Amino acid sequence: MSVQGLEGLIAAGVRGQRVFVRADLNVPLSGGRIGDDTRIRASLPSLRRLLDAGARVVLASHLGRPKGERRPELSLRPVAERLSQLLERGVSFCDPAVGEAAEAASRDLADGQLLLLENLRFYRGEEKNDPSFAEALAALCDVYVNDAFGTAHRAHASTAGIAKHVRRVAAGDLLQSELSHLRVVLEPKRPLLCLVGGAKVSDKLAVLEALAPRADVLAIGGAMAYTFLAARGEAVGTSLVEHDRLDDARRVEAAVAAAGRRLLLPLDHVVAREFAADAAHQVVTQIPDGFMALDIGPDTASLYAREAAQAATIFWNGPMGVFEMEAFARGTEAVAKGVADSNAVSVVGGGDSLAAVNKLGVGADITHLSTGGGASLEYVQGLELPGVAALDR
Ligand code: 3PG
Repeated sequence: MSVQGLEGLIAAGVRGQRVFVRADLNVPLSGGRIGDDTRIRASLPSLRRLLDAGARVVLASHLGRPKGERRPELSLRPVAERLSQLLERGVSFCDPAVGEAAEAASRDLADGQLLLLENLRFYRGEEKNDPSFAEALAALCDVYVNDAFGTAHRAHASTAGIAKHVRRVAAGDLLQSELSHLRVVLEPKRPLLCLVGGAKVSDKLAVLEALAPRADVLAIGGAMAYTFLAARGEAVGTSLVEHDRLDDARRVEAAVAAAGRRLLLPLDHVVAREFAADAAHQVVTQIPDGFMALDIGPDTASLYAREAAQAATIFWNGPMGVFEMEAFARGTEAVAKGVADSNAVSVVGGGDSLAAVNKLGVGADITHLSTGGGASLEYVQGLELPGVAALDR
C-alpha cells in the first residue's frame, strides 16, 4: 500500500489550497462542556503544520451517534472554542456542513485560516458512505487529509468515499503515528503479552480469536473472564456470563492451547451481592452462590503485573473490573501500573484503560496511548482499515 504523509504533501505545496482534514474530535461532552480533550490535542500537530504551510483548512469530524438527526447537544461548536484556545488562533464554525453556504465559507478562507464544520453525523449520508454526500464534502476542498485514526475502521463518506473525488490525498501525522506504533503488535518482539478486558466476549471475540494463536500470553479480565470460567465449568455465582458464548470461549481457549501459548484467567476475585458502588465486597478464590465478581483480585493483579514485567511487547485494551466504581477499580489500576513499570514496548487503547493510565498519571511510561479503541482493535487483528485503504494511490 502506498500512502503519502504530510511531508510529501506539504513539500508539493498546500499554500492557498483548501485542505479538508478529517479528524476524530469525538470527545466526551456533557452540558456543552468538554471532558477529556485528548483527541482534540492529538489533532493539533497536523493542523499546525498545514496552517503554517499556508493551507486553508476545512476541518470535519463526527461527535457521538446522532444517526442522521440534528441533535443540538451533539454540536461540535464547543470543540471549535477549545480548538481556538489550543491553536491560539481564530476558528470559524460552519453549520450547515455541506451545500452552498459551506462551499462559500470554504472559498472565503484565507491562507492559514481554519473552519470547523458541524457534526457530519447530523447527515444520513455520512455513515451510509453515500456517494452524493461524499461528493458534497469533496466540493469543499482541493486536497483531502485523513487524520482520524479513531474512525479509520469506519467506511463512511468522510473517511472513505470522499477520497475518490479528490485528486490529492494524504494521511495526517496522528494517523501515521498510530499505525507505526500499533504495528509492533503485529510484528512483536517476544514475549508478547495481550491483556484484554471488558464486559463481553461477544464485543471482543474477533480480537480474541486473532490474538489467541499470536500472543505468547493472553490474559483476560473484566466480566468477560467469567464467561471463560463458566465455560471451564467453574462456579461463577451471579457474575455476568454470556451463556450463548460458552462455545466461543472454549474455541479461543483451544486455539491458545493448540498454538502452545498461555491463557490466563482470574485466580481470585472481588465479589459483591449486588452491582452497586457502595456494595459490601470481599476477595475470594471461589465465587460463592449469590455473589458476582466485579474486579480481579489482588493475586490476579500481581500475576498480570509480573507477566507485564517479563514481556517485551504489551497490548492492553479493556478494564479488569467495574473501573468506574471506586471499590472495583483496583485491578485495572494495578494492571495500568504494571504496564507502565514494565520495560516492554507498550500500547494501550480503549476508554477505560486510558482513563486508568491517566488517573494514575503514568501515561509518560507507556510507549503509545492510542486515540482509537475500536480502530486499534481492528488494526491489531491485521484487518485493513477503510480510512487507510482509501488513501492508497
Ligand atoms: C470512537 O469513539 O471509537 C470513534 O470516534 C468512532 O466512533 P463510533 O464507534 O461511533 O463510530
